[in-house]
Amino acid sequence: MKKEGFTIWLTGYSGAGKTTISEKLIEELKGRQLPSEMLDGDVVREHLSQGLSFSRKDRDTNVLRIGFVAGLLSRNGVAVVVSAISPYRSTRNMVRERINGFIEVYVKCPIEECERRDVKGLYRKARNGELTAFTGIDDPYEEPLDPEVICYTDIETVNASVEKIIQYLEVAAYIP
Ligand code: PPS
Ligand code: MG
Repeated sequence: MKKEGFTIWLTGYSGAGKTTISEKLIEELKGRQLPSEMLDGDVVREHLSQGLSFSRKDRDTNVLRIGFVAGLLSRNGVAVVVSAISPYRSTRNMVRERINGFIEVYVKCPIEECERRDVKGLYRKARNGELTAFTGIDDPYEEPLDPEVICYTDIETVNASVEKIIQYLEVAAYIP
């Protein structure tokens, strides 16, 4: 019998560093010969969730779809890394209930810092009114209350954040 996988679920503001950490983490997991897959909100929204908006209903649909796929993969031995804002606590908790080996990582960064970085120019658009329902500006983000890991990306390097997650996986015996 194949060993079960797990799902590392990175949640946080746009620009907090979810995708960057996920990419490095996937590299690290693959380096350890673990079959790994990444499900990134931006990418999922071009495929599995094409056409969905940023309303609460559509965000929930998106998050539950990602959770469904992550569940299928992780129960078949894959190390899944999800990076999605996933702003609603109750929806994240629904996914948690459905996946064995769900590891919530709060990619924490003050909204002011995310806005200062403004990697994709989306905060400027949200401020201009070119974009509405932007997380943290005019749309909610519900912080995790008891995440397995917190990465403070305003004061930690990407490598330190990745290392923190790997350490958690080792201590919790998800990986050797
Ligand atoms: S959610 O809430 O989990 O369904 O969002 P997600 O699938 O992760 O998609 C977030 C990416 O969409 C872009 N974008 C927005 N984000 C938040 N609010 C609004 N209104 C919005 N419009 C577009 C943005 O590129 C997000 O990517 P990240 O990587 O988080 O910056
Ligand atoms: Mg991203």
